[in-house]
Amino acid sequence: MMADDAASEEQDLSRLLIEERVFQPPADFEAAAVVQDPSVYERAEADPEAFWAEMAEQLDWYEKWDEVLRWDPPHAEWFVGGKLNACYNCVDRHVHNGRRNQAAIIWEGEPGERRTLTYWDLYQETNKLANALKTLGVEKGDRVAIYMPMIPELPIAMLACARIGAIHSVVFGGFSAEALRDRIVDAEAKVLITADGGYRRGQIIPLKHDADYALRQTPSIEHVIIVERGEFPLRIVQGRDHWYHRLLQEAEPYCEPEPMDAEDILYTLYTSGTTGQPKGIVHTTGGYMTGVLATLRWIFDLKQDDVYWCTADIGWVTGHSYIVYGPLAAGATMLMYEGAPNWPEWDRFWQIVEDHGVTVFYTAPTAIRAFMKWGTQYPQAHDLSSLRLLGTVGEPINPEAWMWYYEHIGGERCPIVDTWWQTETGMILLTTLPGIDYMRPSYAGRPFPGVSAEVLNDAGQPATSGYLAITRPWPAMLRTIYNEPERYVEQYWTKWDKATYFTSDGAKREDDGYFGLLGRVDDVLNVSGHRIGTMEVESALVDHKAVAEAAVVGIADEVKGQVIAAFVTVKEGNEPTAQLSQELQKHVVDKIGAIARPQSVAFAGDLPKTRSGKIMRRLLRDIAEGKVLGDITTLADASVVDELKRRYEEQE
Ligand code: PRX
Repeated sequence: MMADDAASEEQDLSRLLIEERVFQPPADFEAAAVVQDPSVYERAEADPEAFWAEMAEQLDWYEKWDEVLRWDPPHAEWFVGGKLNACYNCVDRHVHNGRRNQAAIIWEGEPGERRTLTYWDLYQETNKLANALKTLGVEKGDRVAIYMPMIPELPIAMLACARIGAIHSVVFGGFSAEALRDRIVDAEAKVLITADGGYRRGQIIPLKHDADYALRQTPSIEHVIIVERGEFPLRIVQGRDHWYHRLLQEAEPYCEPEPMDAEDILYTLYTSGTTGQPKGIVHTTGGYMTGVLATLRWIFDLKQDDVYWCTADIGWVTGHSYIVYGPLAAGATMLMYEGAPNWPEWDRFWQIVEDHGVTVFYTAPTAIRAFMKWGTQYPQAHDLSSLRLLGTVGEPINPEAWMWYYEHIGGERCPIVDTWWQTETGMILLTTLPGIDYMRPSYAGRPFPGVSAEVLNDAGQPATSGYLAITRPWPAMLRTIYNEPERYVEQYWTKWDKATYFTSDGAKREDDGYFGLLGRVDDVLNVSGHRIGTMEVESALVDHKAVAEAAVVGIADEVKGQVIAAFVTVKEGNEPTAQLSQELQKHVVDKIGAIARPQSVAFAGDLPKTRSGKIMRRLLRDIAEGKVLGDITTLADASVVDELKRRYEEQE
C-alpha cells in the first residue's frame, strides 16, 4: 500500500467514527428549550393539517381560513379563504403587543457603523416607504425589483412591498447587471429599489451604477428608488430616479396594510436550475409565513432575549425566510452585517459575536471550512460564551467541519442544527429539534413535525440510498414557477407520481431515521453555498463570440465545496490563448456575477460526447480532478479524450 493510500484510509476511518458518534443537547439547554416534548413528532404525524393549523394560529389573521389544505396534486393551496398581511405580522403586531421599543434589527456596516432599529422604527419606515411606493403608482400585484446591499433598508423595502400587496423580487447584490436585467424583464417589474452602493471587503459595490446598465433594457421600470448608503457618485435620471430619504420625508406616516389572500403571492425569487434560464420561484403568503415562523421558533429555539444572527445575504432564500420573515414574525432581535467575514481582519465575525452578545448563529459549511483554514486563533481571541445554539445550511457539512464548529465555535456546549431545505421549499424541512433530538455529524436529521420525506430509488421504492423525496405537501412550498407553470410540474412532480416532490438531492437514510444528504443529482452546482446551474454558465460562455461549444463541471474544493471548471471549443479563426481564457472568465462574471466565475477554462479540439450527442460531464470532471479516466467505451470519438487530457494538463 502506498503511503498516500494509508493516510487517506485513516482519514476515511476517522470520518466514519465521527459520523457514528451522537451528541446529546446539554441538560440545561433541554430544560429551557422551546420544544421539550418528543411526542410533537407523533402528534403532528397523526394529523398534519391540524398541526399546521395550530402553527398558523401564531400569526394574526384578518379572516380565518375555511380549509387548511386543498391538494390537487401537484397544486396545493393552504389556509384557503384566510386573509392576512405579512408586514402586519412582522411589524405592527409587535408594536401593539409590548415589543414597540425592542430592537428588531441590530445592524453593522462593513466599515464599522452601527444602527439599531426598534420595532417602532421599523414600523415608521415601512409605513412611509409603503406610502411612497403607492405615490409612485405601485398597486397590489405589481412587481418591485430590489437590488441592494445588506442594509436595514433592504428588509424595509421587502416589508413595504408586502404591506401594499406588491410582489417583491430581490436580486442578490452580487449578481451582474445583465442578471438583474433578465430578472426585471421576466417579472415586468414597475419599480426598482436599489442603493448608491455597498461595501464588500473594503471595496464599494456600485449597485446603482450597475443597475443603470440593466435599466437601458427594462422598459417596464417606471421609477427607481435609491438609498443613500455612502454618498457614492452616481447619475440621476430626472423623473425616474428618486432618493429614498426624500420620498420618506414627504410620505404620510401610516399606510393601512392590504388584507391579502393566503394564496396571494408574497414574493418571487430566482434560482438556478438545469437550463440556461433561472426559475422564478413563487411563494405565497399564508402557508409561507406559517412555515417560516414555526420552523424559526422551534429549530432556532428563539426566546425574547436572544440575539439571532444568520450570516446569509438576504438576496438568497435563507435571508428571506430566516433573516426577514421568520425572525420578524417572531418578534425577535436579529443582527444584520453588511460585509465580508475577513474584513478588516480574519476575526470580524467573532468580534461581532462578542460585541453584540450573539446567542444563536446560523451560517454555511463553506464559511465554517474557511474559518477552519484560517485557524482557531481567531475565534479563540474572542469571548464567544454568549452563543448557545449553532446552525448550518446550504450544503452537506463534512464531519470534520461539524466537529470544528462544535468545539471551536460552540465550546462543546451549543447544539448544532443542520438544516436541509431549498429555495423551492421556502422553509426548513429536515433538521433536528435542538432540545429533544441528538445530533449526528453530517446528518441533517429528521423531517420537521408535519413534514414527510423518504429516500426513493428510480422506481419510487424506499431505499437506504437514493433520491430525497418529499411525500406530502407542506405550507411554505413553492406554488409555481413565475411565467412557467408547465416547468413547475415537469421539474418537481414527474419523477415518480404527481404527489411526490423530487428534490434533485441524493440522500441516504439510516436505521435511526436520520437523513444524510449526498449533494445534487442534477447539473446544479454548489459553489460556496451558492446555487449555480452548469447550463447557465455554459450559455454565458457560448455567448462569447469566440466560443463554439462549452461544457462546465463542478469539481471538489476543500473550502468552497465545488468550483467551476469549464471546457471550451473555439470557433474557426480564434486562438485558444491564456488571454482568451481570462476574457472568458470575465465574460461569465459580466453575464452572471462573480460567484459564477470559472476557476479554470480549458480549450479542447472537441468535447467528449456519447453517440447520442450528450456531453460526458463525468469524464470532464475526472479529467479536471486529475483522476484516472473511467469507462470511455460510450464515447463517439475516443481520441478526443486523450487530446483533452493532454491540453488540460498542459494548461495546469
Ligand atoms: O443540495 C441541497 C443544498 O442546497 C440546495 C438548495 O439550494 P438553495 O435553493 O440555494 O437553498 C440553499 C439554502 C436553503 C439543496 O438542493 N442544501 C441546502 N441545505 C443543505 C443542503 N445540502 C446538505 N445539507 C443541508 N443542510
